[in-house]
Amino acid sequence: MTPDGRVRWGIIGTANIARASFLPGLRQAGDVAAAVAGRDAERAGKWARDHGVDRAVHGYQALIEDPEIDALYLPLPNALHAEWTIRALQAGKPVLCEKPLCGTLPDTERVLEVARRTGTLLWEAFVFPFQAQMQRIRDLVTGGAIGELVEIRSGFHFALSNPANIRYSPDLQGGALNDVGCYPVRLAQEFFGPEHETAWARATWGGQGVDVDTWGVLGYPGGRRLQLSCGMARQLDTFSTLDGTGGQIRITNPFHPGPADLFQVIAGRSEPRSFAAAPRDLPFSPAIRHIGAVLRGEETPRAQAVDTSLPTARALADLAASLPGRPDPVRGPGQPG
Ligand SMILES: NC(=O)c1ccc[n+]([C@@H]2O[C@H](COP(=O)([O-])OP(=O)(O)OC[C@H]3O[C@@H](n4cnc5c(N)ncnc54)[C@H](OP(=O)(O)O)[C@@H]3O)[C@@H](O)[C@H]2O)c1
Repeated sequence: MTPDGRVRWGIIGTANIARASFLPGLRQAGDVAAAVAGRDAERAGKWARDHGVDRAVHGYQALIEDPEIDALYLPLPNALHAEWTIRALQAGKPVLCEKPLCGTLPDTERVLEVARRTGTLLWEAFVFPFQAQMQRIRDLVTGGAIGELVEIRSGFHFALSNPANIRYSPDLQGGALNDVGCYPVRLAQEFFGPEHETAWARATWGGQGVDVDTWGVLGYPGGRRLQLSCGMARQLDTFSTLDGTGGQIRITNPFHPGPADLFQVIAGRSEPRSFAAAPRDLPFSPAIRHIGAVLRGEETPRAQAVDTSLPTARALADLAASLPGRPDPVRGPGQPG
């Protein structure tokens, strides 16, 4: 830590998401962008200069072992999450690993076993449960604002065009379910708990053999369900609804809300009530603030991967296993149907 208690973060890989979301959140949280590691020293050096990171390090292991780094952010392609997260945990470095924690269920189990055994702190970068919007919605649902919650309809679509993108690669464990379908799944887990009973999905295939447009259902005890739609072939859309026996909450963006986003509560005969989603915070700031507070001993860790990541990975694996023509792509490489 710096003398004034700020966390010195290291970033593993010169990723787009690090530039676009992690660094702005880090700055808002008041911590330090201490170093970035890359496979290519020159590229990493330029990236550090361009994005205001203090220094660049050649190679991921060097950053993991760097004594001047307090915590690691890991935004590598999904297929590399397990190896580098395990190395960081074994070195005793707290990790914020990008979602999905791993692209396969066995890798997720392996990583969580190391996290439990070493006791090193690990979070999966679903940052929305930390945000004020989701806390407010949680309070409304548990307070009975829409009666009993029975159904979630949630989607995450965006348009991807670059054929070289990591999301089109089965070897890097891309695909729509892994990349964005994991968000509705994690949202359902927030409200319905960790145990789904049934999983059904269908997809169209593209890229180098990944699901690019995917839809399905996760069933939970008592007939509660998630209707899920996700893909990489439409304009950005994250609109989601929580449907209860006495009303509905409509959310323009449950996952990365910006200043224009809102949620609306429609219940009984009263007028719909609208709430601004994120009046102050950038999407990553609340999670980064929480991790900093934990490392300073000011807060007890919440939503650690050991407590939250396995149900998400199981649900994604079961949805993927139900896709015809590609029996088990999340548990291992497969072929498109
Ligand atoms: N939480 C969120 O809101 C959010 C949003 C977008 C993405 N993500 C997640 O963040 C991760 C990265 O996504 P991204 O779109 O930012 O990826 P990206 O821009 O393609 O960056 C990935 C980085 O990984 C490194 N890398 C190592 N081996 C690689 C390989 N074989 N192919 C390509 N890159 C390799 C590269 O850095 P060096 O060459 O410098 O080592 C590269 O810059 C994914 O897990 C994704 O699901 C999360």
